[in-house]
Amino acid sequence: MTKRITLTLMLVALAVPAMAQERTWRSDVKPLFDAKCIQCHEATAPEYNDWELLDEKVRDETPPRMDTYPHFMSYVVWPATGAMMRRLDDGKTSGKAGNMHQYLGDSDEERGKNLQIIKEWLGDGAWNMNRWQARNEVPGISKEQLEKIKAKY
Ligand code: HEC
Repeated sequence: MTKRITLTLMLVALAVPAMAQERTWRSDVKPLFDAKCIQCHEATAPEYNDWELLDEKVRDETPPRMDTYPHFMSYVVWPATGAMMRRLDDGKTSGKAGNMHQYLGDSDEERGKNLQIIKEWLGDGAWNMNRWQARNEVPGISKEQLEKIKAKY
């Protein structure tokens, strides 16, 4: 009997890490980024703040740099708060799909799967379209919304 309980506990211990598998930048998001985004948002691309200084017309054709965790997070948290979510959204949260959604995959299925990976990684309730400051009828992001962001490295 004790043996069986021990065995059960061992199996549970083995199963728990598999169930609670947490998405990380290193194992889930960076490989996805390298497959789908890096050809444009590469290390030699201008950093966000330099990109912001470009003329609007030039900026429209120039992808900003996003290839490291801190670069990527600047489009999630600050200064480009919510840009990642607004551009990748499939239209279900924002009403209109973001213009980077197309790059998530070659089919609806692949795009949906990859979007889900990024959403799970960001965290439950972290998929928000808000900017740092209010714009028109959309309020600025709240502390409560920011606290939902997990985005483990
Ligand atoms: C074919 C090139 C190309 C690919 C591939 C691409 N992008 Fe972009 N991206 C651009 C260009 C050019 C811009 C700047 C023009 C614009 O704002 O739409 C941009 C802008 C963005 C922005 C907006 C930045 C801001 O502050 O407004 C985000 C976020 C973004 N891309 C994320 C991604 C992600 C994530 C992927 C991969 C799923 C991706 N992009 C794939 C070319 C690309």
